[in-house]
Amino acid sequence: MIAMFELHAYIAARRAAVNTALEEIFAGCPESSRLLDAMKYSLTAGGKRLRPILCIASAEAVGKSIDEPILKVCCALEMIHTYSLVHDDLPGLDNDALRRGRPTCHVAFDEATAILAGDALLTMAFSILARAGAESQENASKWLEIIRCISDAAGCTGMIEGQMRDIAAEGKSISKAELASVHALKTGALIRASVFCGALLADGTRDEIAKLTRYANHLGLAFQVIDDILNVEGDPRIMGKAAGTDSARMKTTYPSLLGVKKSREFAAELVKNALHAIALFDNRSDPLRAIARYVLERKR
Ligand code: IPE
Ligand code: IPE
Ligand code: MG
Ligand code: MG
Repeated sequence: MIAMFELHAYIAARRAAVNTALEEIFAGCPESSRLLDAMKYSLTAGGKRLRPILCIASAEAVGKSIDEPILKVCCALEMIHTYSLVHDDLPGLDNDALRRGRPTCHVAFDEATAILAGDALLTMAFSILARAGAESQENASKWLEIIRCISDAAGCTGMIEGQMRDIAAEGKSISKAELASVHALKTGALIRASVFCGALLADGTRDEIAKLTRYANHLGLAFQVIDDILNVEGDPRIMGKAAGTDSARMKTTYPSLLGVKKSREFAAELVKNALHAIALFDNRSDPLRAIARYVLERKR
């Protein structure tokens, strides 16, 4: 079992690799502009880089170490995630003023710039994937599958549909099953895609990929259940974003349906299921196991 300090070192090393890869992409951009400044502002504000780290850990679990193509996929995943946060914070959605410990993009710049910076981050992500596929020695069908998987996860069969349902449910009461599907779409889909793409790049077998996908499904829901709990009792200074906003916007969340204690128990059960899905994997998947336990304990 990986001790917590080892997980911190594991995460720090991979986060640094992803951050360097992101910096290199922007260093290659011809000139600075307000749009690029806004994109970089949100991207470099200090996110946890959980999705890229899951992508790498998933590849490692089936025997591949971090390389250039994996890092390109990591950058694309983080750009899509960051764009989703920039848009999620907009006045028309959650209307939040603090993100990653900084004023949100629309507060620091303006609403139009934040919308456009989000659009540009999303489009840039797919340009990076297409270029990585074109430069790769591997067959193009693998890259097409990665692009299909990430676009499905990000769009109207994944994250955006989840966001739509999340907004549509404000002020209404929805069932536990409906809430689970909102969370699986708005947060789970991109987490699942991150794990799937890591395993695919590492040439995992269909059986390994299926098990990792089960791991990711449980983990993605657990991650959002904990996000809901932190919105009730988390420390905004640690989280880098405001608390209490879900109840202010009359969102149905796990704590609003089950209370905090039962929500924690539910998240723990989901993490147990995630660990069970990869129980037969060898110690190369220890980071995935440690990340699952970290998701339960996280404070930010
Ligand atoms: C926040 O995601 C939004 C959710 C989907 C719950 P993260 O908690 O991964 O945010 P960052 O990237 O660390 O800022
Ligand atoms: C964010 O969900 C999900 C996406 C951005 C796709 P939330 O709105 O619940 O997350 P926070 O609390 O703003 O980070
Ligand atoms: Mg939201
Ligand atoms: Mg939000």
